[in-house]
Amino acid sequence: MDLPYELKRSVRRKSERAGAMRQSGDSLSASRLYSDCARLAEEMASLEPGSGTAWMSRSRAYRDMALDVDGQQHVPVTKEGISSGIQDSAPSLTNLINATTAVPDVSFDDIAGLSAAKERIKETIIYPLTMPDAFAHYGIPSGGGLLMYGPPGCGKTKVAQAAANESGLAFFEVGPSDIKDKYVGESEKNVRAIFEAASGQDGSIIFLDELDAMAPRRQSGNPGYETSLVSEFLIQMQRFKEENERSLVIGATNRPWDVDIALRRPGRFDTLVFIPHPDKEACIQILENANQGRPVDASVDFSVLSDRLNGFSGSEITEVCHEAARRAFRECIGSGEMRHINKNDFDEVIADFKSGMSSWYRKVLDELKTDSDRDLFVDMINTGTELLNELEPRST
Ligand SMILES: Nc1ncnc2c1ncn2[C@@H]1O[C@H](COP(=O)(O)OP(=O)(O)O)[C@@H](O)[C@H]1O
Ligand SMILES: [Mg+2]
Repeated sequence: MDLPYELKRSVRRKSERAGAMRQSGDSLSASRLYSDCARLAEEMASLEPGSGTAWMSRSRAYRDMALDVDGQQHVPVTKEGISSGIQDSAPSLTNLINATTAVPDVSFDDIAGLSAAKERIKETIIYPLTMPDAFAHYGIPSGGGLLMYGPPGCGKTKVAQAAANESGLAFFEVGPSDIKDKYVGESEKNVRAIFEAASGQDGSIIFLDELDAMAPRRQSGNPGYETSLVSEFLIQMQRFKEENERSLVIGATNRPWDVDIALRRPGRFDTLVFIPHPDKEACIQILENANQGRPVDASVDFSVLSDRLNGFSGSEITEVCHEAARRAFRECIGSGEMRHINKNDFDEVIADFKSGMSSWYRKVLDELKTDSDRDLFVDMINTGTELLNELEPRST
């Protein structure tokens, strides 16, 4: 008998039964079953050292669920507790789902351009905290759901991190690998766990990155488990919004048309914000930020460079700067002389650099030609079309 296999099956069966018991209101049985799962998961950790950490977090998660359904002890997760890594004081559900990570020290000022997205986030989550009286006075609805979309590497994740920092709220960052589980029902449970953990806070932000992979458009051909995962998101988002003030769900995706349409209805993601590639001004700011503290020669003119970086993503612009610095550094390895990074370094790097942005836009515009939702993404369609027209002479 393959013991790990049997154990895994047992964990799965018990946790499914626990879920059913919980739903039927039999919290005592649910609690016992979750405790069993916790013990079995611990055994798994010793049997499979390679995935030991994962099983241990899972075990702790089951214990939390046991406590949770039992209603004996509901310990709210504190942001401090988690970002300082004190695992004992934080329910380990968050370990399982890898949520609430320490947020990098990013502010809105560090983000070039994207004023529409920043303003929208301030309106939904920052001003209600900083100007509560005026907010109440005008009866402005707060929180809700905001879906950012646009080409890769242009600041979606960074915007969400800045929102977390500037609001000071607990931050739950969730990607597909955090929730997707091959066992039936487990992914849904992970989604529930995240929203429950976030609901236990005094205000929180849930950031769902790469949402298209977690909540894909339901179609007749879709496997059932994806359909039920989308349903779980719908239920949880609706509840989260109804039950929590000072809370926001931020979604990010490069492919918003692949996100299930029901998620874009009021009550879920009611605001869609396009995150474009940097314009000239934003490009210059990214160049300045990336080169801060580096010895850059006076021959380098960021404004001139920005014209040649038209249509590059923010991460590509950053990479160009790193590469220019590497050129100077490599010479230093040979010569020992620490010369400045000069115009020639940038020129050579840019000449060799192949931006992926135009082919990304081309592909997406092509895909959207026949999409019934294309009107929703008109900002992106216009921006992409404009960029391709600008770049046309260069590419021929
Ligand atoms: N608008 C921007 N302002 C500042 N830095 C940016 C911007 N866009 C991209 N970057 C840089 O590119 C990196 C990748 O951005 P990220 O937010 O992960 O992109 P996305 O989530 O849209 O794929 C960031 O860490 C940052 O260094
Ligand atoms: Mg991202």
